[in-house]
Amino acid sequence: MTFVVTDNCVKCKYTDCVEVCPVDCFYEGPNFLVIHPDECIDCALCEPECPAEAIFSEDEVPAGQEQYIQLNAELAEEWPNITEQKDPLPDAADWDGVPDKIDHIER
Ligand code: SF4
Ligand code: F3S
Repeated sequence: MTFVVTDNCVKCKYTDCVEVCPVDCFYEGPNFLVIHPDECIDCALCEPECPAEAIFSEDEVPAGQEQYIQLNAELAEEWPNITEQKDPLPDAADWDGVPDKIDHIER
């Protein structure tokens, strides 16, 4: 089991989640974060920390967002590790809650 970062993180990237992860298993792209499924210990600490409510347990990913499970696994192998909180993206407040942002993910 792992936790998964989903659609509402895209173009927001608040990074509050990073600060609480005991195993530093978040990986950072230009405008999205992912969790490495082989490193996540399923502690659930990050889930309530996300202001965008973008983090779910693998078995609770909202309908229609299942592709994020594979996307987290794939991008965690490509992107660098992030271990400290940073400022959110400048337009985070405008994009928070906008649906279907998957095509906006920069790689
Ligand atoms: Fe890290 Fe725990 Fe969240 Fe997994 S569930 S990403 S180990 S804080
Ligand atoms: Fe993204 Fe939420 Fe973390 S917006 S960077 S999953 S705090």
